[in-house]
Amino acid sequence: MQITDTKERYGFITRLLHWGMALLLLWQFLSAGAHLLLSDTPVEEFFWATHKPLGFLLLILIFIRSLWALANLSRRPPSVNRVATLGHVALYGLIFLIPSLALLRQYGSGEAFEPLGIALFSGFEGDEIAWMVLPANLLHSWFGWALLLIIIGHVFMAFQHRRQPGHVDVLPRMK
Ligand code: HEM
Ligand code: HEM
Repeated sequence: MQITDTKERYGFITRLLHWGMALLLLWQFLSAGAHLLLSDTPVEEFFWATHKPLGFLLLILIFIRSLWALANLSRRPPSVNRVATLGHVALYGLIFLIPSLALLRQYGSGEAFEPLGIALFSGFEGDEIAWMVLPANLLHSWFGWALLLIIIGHVFMAFQHRRQPGHVDVLPRMK
């Protein structure tokens, strides 16, 4: 089994992170969708319970994934074009930014926060801290839905490259 990436194919760790995070993000968007469309129903109650801890886990995973990508940069399969590179960087950037802004808001709200059993913030008495709460209030959900759109474009392009004659079929590199 090839652990690290090669010029021909992504290695086991990259593929595990790619497909594992794809599944976790699918779940994350189910919870976001339930929050938007099915508020105050048992379906929302079920999915929403996982939104914050899973969002925190995704932040840890994207950190690990970025370090792994940097370590493998010189031996990964080459990018098909500039737009693909830009799209991948945008995916990384948003998966960093979206939960980071939410965590800042969570701290600023003064509420205790213990995701995955880790006592991250113990909370505080008094008013919330406005400058910490504002960015996520303005941007968290919009950036979240933008991420979903880019993911849909990414999946579409992966199959498009496969269908179009003369394009590099990128799917076997990640399978
Ligand atoms: C990659 C990780 C994350 C993604 C993709 C994501 C995505 C989203 C999306 C799309 C919405 C909008 C739902 C709607 O329109 O009703 C949302 C809402 C929300 N998320 Fe996240 N989220 C992530 C991480 C987090 C984390 C770590 C927290 C808390 C620590 C959090 C807390 C919230 C809250 C409180 C809302 C409802 C208020 C709002 O719309 O801003 N999220 N999230
Ligand atoms: C059914 C879902 C998906 C399919 C079929 C798919 C397919 C692929 C393929 C074929 C590649 C290799 C592209 C190349 O070598 O040029 C790739 C790379 C990549 N994909 Fe996906 N993908 C899916 C879901 C996702 C999701 C949900 C994300 C969200 C983060 C994502 C992020 C990335 C990134 C960042 C890369 C670049 C390699 C890396 O740094 O890991 N993909 N994907």
